[in-house]
Amino acid sequence: MAILIDGKALAAKVKAEVAAEAAKLTRKAGLAVILVGDDPASRVYVNGKEKDCRECGIVSFEYKLPADTAESTLLELIDRLNRSERVDGILVQLPLPQGLDERTVIHSIAADKDVDCFHPYNTGLLYMGEPVFMPCTPAGVMEMLHAYDIPVEGRRCVVIGRSNIVGKPMSALLLADNGTVTTCHSKTSDISEITRSADILVSAVGKTRSLTADMVKKGAVVIDVAMNRDENGKLCGDADFAAVSERASAITPVPGGVGPMTRAMLMRNILTAARLHGA
Ligand code: GUN
Repeated sequence: MAILIDGKALAAKVKAEVAAEAAKLTRKAGLAVILVGDDPASRVYVNGKEKDCRECGIVSFEYKLPADTAESTLLELIDRLNRSERVDGILVQLPLPQGLDERTVIHSIAADKDVDCFHPYNTGLLYMGEPVFMPCTPAGVMEMLHAYDIPVEGRRCVVIGRSNIVGKPMSALLLADNGTVTTCHSKTSDISEITRSADILVSAVGKTRSLTADMVKKGAVVIDVAMNRDENGKLCGDADFAAVSERASAITPVPGGVGPMTRAMLMRNILTAARLHGA
């Protein structure tokens, strides 16, 4: 039976560290959260982020806009927040409703307030090995590996997924830690053969039970980034958890694994932004 990697407990520790540092600032750090439309999952995620802000002594300003908001209205709001001295970080919850171009919106956020680390300037710095902000989910995964003394250097790492939010920056961070990284995606042939070579296997597919035990090498570390619902509506990841945890040496649960770490890394980025702004 695998060791359970407790993201909830580790996130609480990180948030306590952020809170202690945030308390030393000359003013309160501030996060602006923009939620467009009424996607229930997005509402839950935003509530979680605002709760974390309260725990860390960070002020959050919520901007709730209707689903039919014109792109120009959203861009005007972002422009105002870009210039606000009370706002250190700006987070536009994704996905955006139809009619709003995520690329245009993300590019409009000032790079020094881009606490999601989605802006191409910050992504570029990350890939050059000189990041200012860290991509929250991949940074949360790295924090878990470090906290559980799981070495990356020289080990075979396989990431399933190539999204800009998770898969690509995840591969970049494992590479930066001297892992030998393979990124798999929907067009990869014989994916099981590749995943079975992994010492560290990160799954970011978003499909219940897409990661089965036969895809996992005995003793591998399995990081399940997904947040899915099973046929009973219960939260679950990609892994067929019971069977995969029989083969893995360590595994993240869903919920209580990567999710809380993503949010904790966001808090850390807000602290970085506040310092950058001289707070
Ligand atoms: N939607 C799903 N994950 C994220 C995230 O990390 N940041 C934002 N802004 N939206 C998301």
